[in-house]
Amino acid sequence: MTERRWIIASDHAGFALKKEIQKHFEDSGQRYRDLGCHDESSVDYPDFAHQVAQCIRESQTEHALLICGTGTGMAMTANKHPHIRAAVCTDVYSAAMARRHNDANVLCLGARVTGSGLAIAIVDAFASAHFEGGRHAKRVEKIDL
Ligand code: RB5
Repeated sequence: MTERRWIIASDHAGFALKKEIQKHFEDSGQRYRDLGCHDESSVDYPDFAHQVAQCIRESQTEHALLICGTGTGMAMTANKHPHIRAAVCTDVYSAAMARRHNDANVLCLGARVTGSGLAIAIVDAFASAHFEGGRHAKRVEKIDL
């Protein structure tokens, strides 16, 4: 599997799943930077999604993982940033295609939707896939208003 450096963050609903994925990253030698939250106290997901989007822009880091209850709020917030293409994925195929056809740079997961075993498989599929460019590049360019 391709080794990548991740930026990761969650809200309280995603905290436990984030911990499991962090362990997977550590076990598989993938590097990550965790921007919070750091426990299950109630927080607001947009604060973390905005922070991650800003960090991607500043650090040129390729990929980020955002986890909340459904993944929806994180994706809605992250996609407000023009350089972000965030995809909520609940299956392995969509995760790979989000990279291959949509050049997604943020993977959003829902901890109340997706169990940890599947979530880890989704993360690995996203990490392993590469943007195919070609006709997809033209389409991705058209996403921006
Ligand atoms: C928190 O209760 C929940 O609303 C949040 O984690 C997320 O699912 C929002 O999209």
